[in-house]
Order: sequence, then C-alpha cells, then structure tokens
Amino acid sequence: MSVAMSNPLVVDQIAGQSIIDLARRFGTPLYVYDAATIATRIDDLESFDVVRYAQKANSNLGILDLVRRHGALVDAVSAGEIQRALAAGFKGGFDEPPHIMYTADIFDRDALEQVVAHQIPVNCGSPDMISQYGQRCPGRGITLRINPGFGHGHSQKTNTGGQQSKHGIWHTQLGECIERAKKHNLSIAGLHMHIGSGTDLEHLSQVCGAMEQAALAVGPSIHTISAGGGLPTPYREGDQRVDLDAYYSLWEAVRHRLAAAFGHKITLEIEPGRYLVAESGSLIAEIRAVKRMGENTFYVLDAGFNNLARPILYGAYHPMAIAHKAATGGRDKRDQVKTHPVIVGGPLCESGDIFTQEDGGFVRSRELPEATVGDFVVIGAAGAYGAVMGSNYNSKPLAAEVLVENGRANLVRERQAFADLIRGESIPG
Ligand code: LLP
Repeated sequence: MSVAMSNPLVVDQIAGQSIIDLARRFGTPLYVYDAATIATRIDDLESFDVVRYAQKANSNLGILDLVRRHGALVDAVSAGEIQRALAAGFKGGFDEPPHIMYTADIFDRDALEQVVAHQIPVNCGSPDMISQYGQRCPGRGITLRINPGFGHGHSQKTNTGGQQSKHGIWHTQLGECIERAKKHNLSIAGLHMHIGSGTDLEHLSQVCGAMEQAALAVGPSIHTISAGGGLPTPYREGDQRVDLDAYYSLWEAVRHRLAAAFGHKITLEIEPGRYLVAESGSLIAEIRAVKRMGENTFYVLDAGFNNLARPILYGAYHPMAIAHKAATGGRDKRDQVKTHPVIVGGPLCESGDIFTQEDGGFVRSRELPEATVGDFVVIGAAGAYGAVMGSNYNSKPLAAEVLVENGRANLVRERQAFADLIRGESIPG
C-alpha cells in the first residue's frame, strides 16, 4: 500500500469542523486531532500481534484513551507516562502482553518506585537497569532493548542506534547482561530494538537480522520480540506511505524462524508513536502581523516554537495551509490558488522562531496564498511531537487541544492560564 499525500493550500475545515468556529470557540494557538485518522493508522498495523503506542509522541489523556479503545497497548518512558497510562485506563500487571511497558535507558528514582508499585514490566536499556530492577523485583521476566550497532532517523538527533547513541544495551554486551539477569533470577522474556525515529524501510529491515541473531543468542526464554517504532509518516507533498505489508512479512519470517527454533509461539510487537498520531493533528494559529522585510514577506503567527519545536530542532517540514477568516467554503485545488513566497514565524523573542526553516537554521520561504491579519495558518501533520514538546518559553501558555470524534469537538486540554505558569514559584522573604 502506498498513498501519495496531497496537501491543499486553502482549507476551511478539519475533521468536518469549521476552522473559524474552532478558533472562535477554543482560541488559538489550538491543536486539533482527528480521532478517525488515528483509528485508521492503528488498523493499518493489525497484522502485528501487539501495537504498543509510544505515548511520547502525544500523551494527552484523550489520545491515550482513544488508542486504548482501539485496541493498542502503551509504552511509557517515565514515571509521568506510567501515571498518564494508568489515568487513561491502561492497567499495570504482568498480563501477556502487558498493557503498559516501561522502556528507558535509566530508572530515575520516581520511575523505579512506579514500576514496582504498579507492577509495570520493564524493557531495560542499560545493564544498570537490570541490576536495579533485580534488586527490587527478583524472579520477574524482563525484556532487553538492544542497540544493534547501527541506527537511522529523519535527523541525526533522532538516530538511536550506533555507538554515538546512548540508547539500548550495546549488542556485544548481551552475554554479560544474560549473566547479570541470572544473578538476580530475572529471566529474559523478550528483546526490543528501536534504531531511530522517522527512518525508512531499508534501515528498518536491517533490524530483523540483528534481532534474529540476538534472540538465538538468548535462547528459548524469549517469548516476545519488538520491532520498536520509527515508521515514517508523510509530511511533504508526494511523500509515500511506508510499505507495511513488506515490513510485516520481514518480521513475520523472523518470528517464524524463532518460533521453530524455540518450539513455542513468539509474540511480535511494534511500537509506533509518530505513525499513529502525526497525520491526525493540526496546529491552528492566527496571523497577527504581515511584515515586509526587504524582499521577504513574513506571516507572524500567535504560535511559535513554544508550541511546535520540530522546525527549530530538526529543520522539520510541516505542510501549511491558509484558512481565511471569511471562508468561501470548499477546498481549493492547489493549482487554482494564487500563491506567493512567505516566511512563517512565531511571536517568540528569538530569530530562530521560524516554522519554514531547514536543518541548520536556514530560513526558507514557502509558497502560500495571500492572507491578512486575522486569517489562520493551519500547520499539518503536527499530531506527533507537537504539543508534547511545547514549553512555556517567553511565559506563553501551552496551547489548548481538541479531539474531534464522531463529529464532536471535545476539549482535551485547556489552554494554560497565568496561574499555571507561576504555580510553585515564590518570591523569597
Ligand atoms: N520506541 C522508542 C524506544 C523510542 O525511543 C521512540 C521514539 C519510539 C518508540 C517512537 O518512535 P516513532 O515511531 O515516533 O518514530 N521528537 C522527535 C522524535 C523523537 C523520537 C524519540 N523516540 C521528532 O519530533 O521527530
């Protein structure tokens, strides 16, 4: 299956809701998520035994509840994410497969307390985690996250394999970790590899061979293998969706061979974050100034990198469209809309606060329709690593978030108030 995506340049609705109405009702900047898109993306992966949502991509309780209702299980990377999973109705415990799984490279003290208190199975990304868990919970099963010695991501910052990465247990230390686990009477019940985020089929496929080798080295205590996350999602016009059938068949073959070697069933997990939620999300921001600087035209929005950090962090590309304040109705076709080059930036007091930048901070313009103050820019494919990476820089409140499901727009996060910004602060004396 491969579908090219086509981005309109003028929009008036998201998930059947009028953008002007959403902006009027909830204010801007506003994240809007389409539940149906997330449900479809979960269904795409139904061949895998377990779809374990990497909630770091978007851990809003409304989204967690939605993925749970659609049959996905969940991954947690911190004490906070464990608590979010529990608050959204996932259960702790050692069911097979477990609802919640803790995957990280360390336990901070809170996380260790949480996994013990709520019986959350752990996927250890360092030898130290094995010992620290073993001291608290001897006799349990654990899984190991292995760094296979190579990795790949959409940016060097999202490549989680190879020796320059801090992630996972280095593949040549597997034997030592088996010994360490034995010492604590922990059995190694599964292996996991995640080589990076926003990678491609070619690199993802290389993991299969590394997984098979590592699992054979551990032996029949292995009951689960996890392919990790990393599935790419379309951001640019013409981006192809990854060939999931081809990807699944590679893993299916590995699972089969391991099951034959061990004489028991092997559960195959996948752990996507971006793939499930990126396309569902849009960030609506109001144009508050249209400025000309020499040859350049800027649309300056009420949303900045405090709301969506991917462009400044990775030079990430997000599709953009204009929603005019006096909507004409209907979606214009790209070739019928008159465009001009604009640079799109935010309100923050920092020159890097530009949404149309490339890796290295190079500012680029984007062909967008004419727009004036009070019109909206809709930044697309923003459902993953958008709101969750928001900050209060320049004392800006975190944006409100709305989840549209069955034709209803539900507020799933209120915009922060000033009181939220200063909570916990005090003036000494
Ligand atoms: N599993 C593990 C162990 C991970 O570290 C990650 C992502 C995932 C799964 C999910 O990866 P995904 O399917 O979303 O590619 N902020 C960056 C992405 C950082 C990814 C961190 N780990 C971005 O905006 O591109």
